[in-house]
Amino acid sequence: MTAQTPQTYDDLKEIYQSFISRRDKDRHMNIFWETNPSKFNNGNQSLIELSGGMPNESFFPIESINLNILTEPVSNDTIPSIVTREKPEILSLSRTLQYALSEGFPPLIEFIEKFITKLNNIPLYDKNLWKIILAGGSCDSLFKIFETCTDENSTVMVEELTFVPVVSNIINTGAKIIPLKLNLNNKDEGIDLNYMESLLSNWETGPYKHLERPKFLYTIPTGQNPTGLTQSVEKRRKIYKLAQKFNFVILEDDPYGYLKFPKYNHENPLENPYKDGKSISSDEYIKNVLMKSYISMDTDGRVIRFETFSKIFAPGMRLSFVIMNNFFYDKFLKFQEISTRQPSGISQQIVYSTIHSMTSSKDDKDIIESWLQWIMKLACNYTERRNVMLQALYESESFKIDQFSIVEPSAGMFIIIKINFDESKGNIIEQMNKVFNLMDNNGVRAILGYKMAVDQEFSKDHLNFFRLTYSYADNNNQIKEAINRINKSLLEYFK
Ligand SMILES: Cc1ncc(COP(=O)(O)O)c(C=O)c1O
Repeated sequence: MTAQTPQTYDDLKEIYQSFISRRDKDRHMNIFWETNPSKFNNGNQSLIELSGGMPNESFFPIESINLNILTEPVSNDTIPSIVTREKPEILSLSRTLQYALSEGFPPLIEFIEKFITKLNNIPLYDKNLWKIILAGGSCDSLFKIFETCTDENSTVMVEELTFVPVVSNIINTGAKIIPLKLNLNNKDEGIDLNYMESLLSNWETGPYKHLERPKFLYTIPTGQNPTGLTQSVEKRRKIYKLAQKFNFVILEDDPYGYLKFPKYNHENPLENPYKDGKSISSDEYIKNVLMKSYISMDTDGRVIRFETFSKIFAPGMRLSFVIMNNFFYDKFLKFQEISTRQPSGISQQIVYSTIHSMTSSKDDKDIIESWLQWIMKLACNYTERRNVMLQALYESESFKIDQFSIVEPSAGMFIIIKINFDESKGNIIEQMNKVFNLMDNNGVRAILGYKMAVDQEFSKDHLNFFRLTYSYADNNNQIKEAINRINKSLLEYFK
């Protein structure tokens, strides 16, 4: 397979037709309303619509919504903003409370396009051949992509430890999952390239020779869930080359990409360049802090990028977007039309109006800048929490006597600690469960790492970790107290 830059929609169709599921091919949308423009033309009188099954807007119980928008996270300062049935004109409540386009409201999509263009999270092929669609959270986006693309004949590569709901999404379509080895260290973070390359180069003689060659790689490249690791740019380029050589599509799930921090400084644990008077400008953040995305390397249309408002706005919005080539887009849209119909209008309204109220300016440049400032303030808070948790872990007695090791994240919400069990004392999972119970008795909960393994036998050397989340605790003191309790539990276990 030689990689090909698509020039037309027909090129996309020819290249990616074989990446579509059997179910999608049978999927039809029966339309019962008239889609041709009316021929009615009678001076000032317009056509009276009795066709759509939409309620009249005066029947909606909400007249207006007052939004009080925080100027920064963890503060009480707010900017007031009001949304009414008429305002903002471009996206008023009468539109967002009504049935609407399945792809999402154009004003929000246009803002997202300007934003991702500023961040360079856009493909390299013709601008007319890719699009953005909104959906109900990345879980929804991913579910829809697997429904569209995979079936009993598909094989999907995933990181051996991963975001578990996606595993269910894949398996439920009948597709097979192949785990990829991960390097759980801070030297060569994430997917083990040698393993991946050798697997693909020797497929016909390898452990999965009975399966079709993989058509998809699902990866969480930055602040990976659960490991917290981030793939280097060099690794991303090599994986993209492998995708071209072995003809697979990369599903880039990037909910944590914006929550990117500098490396932990052991000499100065609480160093936080976002706020230490070294405050990072938005240009520096884009150029030097954010990681280069797979989609920004994509010449072929083989990357589908998933972003969500869950971690930078609020998960209850259930709002996400997907960037992909027009062929995949059309398939996704068709499935959205016959399943959830459209992402929540009110969520789109609140996200759009909040972002546009963060500055009094109407200039796109200023709106993008103020949204970036918000995101950087979040990253600042996350950096602080990451630092506080790492410092507490390094200072714990249990760490000092080598009962566990730490993998340091430079993005996202998670730290993993690997427990140094004595394997002669029994099965690792049983030992993990015992520590979990002790932790529970001491009042702290973490995720049992083995539950995030795609295949426990494959990952038998990586079952001994806990995933700790630093984003949810009330404050820094609660993070320190949680680590105290973990320390106590491990000392009790190993005594
Ligand atoms: C890797 C990954 N993808 C997707 C999601 C879910 O995102 P959303 O809330 O947009 O459905 C999460 C949330 O934890 C995640 O860790």
